[in-house]
Amino acid sequence: MPRERLVSPELISKEEELFNRSLRPPTLEEYIGQKKVVEKLSIALQAAKQRGEPLEHALFYGPPGLGKTTLAYIIANVMGSKITTSSGPALERTGDMMGILTNLGQGDILFIDEIHRLPANIEEFLYPAMEDFKVDFVVDKGMFAKTINVPLKKFTLIGATTRAGSLSAPLRNRFGLFYHLEFYGVEELRQIILRSARILGAGIDDAGATEIARRARGTPRIANRLLRRVRDFADVKAKGRINAEIARDALKLEGVDDLGLDDLDRSFLTTIIKIYNGGPVGVEALSATLNEEVDTLVDMVEPFLLQQGFISRTKTGRKANEPAYRHLKFPAPGPPSRTLFE
Ligand code: ADE
Repeated sequence: MPRERLVSPELISKEEELFNRSLRPPTLEEYIGQKKVVEKLSIALQAAKQRGEPLEHALFYGPPGLGKTTLAYIIANVMGSKITTSSGPALERTGDMMGILTNLGQGDILFIDEIHRLPANIEEFLYPAMEDFKVDFVVDKGMFAKTINVPLKKFTLIGATTRAGSLSAPLRNRFGLFYHLEFYGVEELRQIILRSARILGAGIDDAGATEIARRARGTPRIANRLLRRVRDFADVKAKGRINAEIARDALKLEGVDDLGLDDLDRSFLTTIIKIYNGGPVGVEALSATLNEEVDTLVDMVEPFLLQQGFISRTKTGRKANEPAYRHLKFPAPGPPSRTLFE
């Protein structure tokens, strides 16, 4: 069971999903950040509407928590169409897929999250559905087996993935629109936090929003989660008013530091620096020392530290970089010690 972290970019509960739903912007005009994506998508939507056609199949890719699902819901809202949602690992049987596809109306949206995790048989089943709006369904078995050809309504498939690279080429080629989501800047996150606070009726000033934004790791989902924790703290300690000091104190109590690192991030860096002399060190050794699963370290800890330049991945293992020393207030690493033979 992976551990739950306040700064994880993944959804941590069903409850959080419902909470986030209430904060989702309903239109592109209300969507903050991802300027390029919003501009391109806005044109594609307008063009499709002018022609009275469904939107082409669209693929959103990028790290978790940046708004892929939100954009799918905005598309459905703008196109005035029904949206059905599923995810790669949940779609196991062609029969289920068949049911979903035949229930889609003209212009409806099928959203598949984690589309890189679709089983191969389902993926192949999707090809003719995406390309020619039909499915070939095999009924009966053995010598009685026959393929029936079922026509579908013209729908739009929206796929979301954290790894565009692990999508097969035939699937990727069947999308017409590609949108890459990037990490948000502090200013954009500040605006998102102010907007969410307004919807929640939480009192917050600009400086308070900035303190939360700086710790949100470029990710709106984390920003909204931190806002909730800070709001609880402010309700108890400060009559519900969030300012910079309250935000800092609340997140310090939660173990989230100035740059959004938590205890696990800091233990990871400290272990490389103090126990392994700054590295390089293999992830298995780190896993044993920290008593954390290798997968947890690779999937949940390293991506942000790599993205921030705190660590590098080399052929011989993980290395801590200068910003990690500086942030944790360790003396900067010296040059490697010379040997007698140099
Ligand atoms: N809530 C979460 N992400 C958002 C975004 N990009 N714009 C507005 N509100 C959001």
